[in-house]
Amino acid sequence: MIERLNHVAIAVPDLDEAMSRYRDILGAQVGPPIKEPDHGVTVVFINLANTKIELLHPLGAESPISKFLERNPKGGIHHLCFEVHDIGAARDRLVSEGARILGPREPRIGAHGLPVLFLHPADFNGTLIELEEMPSSNSHG
Ligand code: CO
Repeated sequence: MIERLNHVAIAVPDLDEAMSRYRDILGAQVGPPIKEPDHGVTVVFINLANTKIELLHPLGAESPISKFLERNPKGGIHHLCFEVHDIGAARDRLVSEGARILGPREPRIGAHGLPVLFLHPADFNGTLIELEEMPSSNSHG
């Protein structure tokens, strides 16, 4: 059901410092900060040959990242995102297996403009999992 690893998201307390580490120490191709007010985050994309890293930094008072950073003041891996072919079918199968969807059951449009769902970390060994439907799998398009 899950296909490629789309990205690993890392919450960071200091975006400039994290960008500099990836760019200057690790030698990665680091994109510009992008504000995503609907999601309460500023995101930086780091493109690797086989996947992406996303640096997440809180944006606004209601950011979902703020609590995570309170518990993990140096930052940490926030979630993994796996690509799926059909997010509705994936959701139905997961729910039938007893996995819990975080938030509303209907997929919402995520940070990349594609439908996403989040799965409860307690059901997956303490790892928050994001599922993202890839556009090539959209039979309408
Ligand atoms: Co993500």
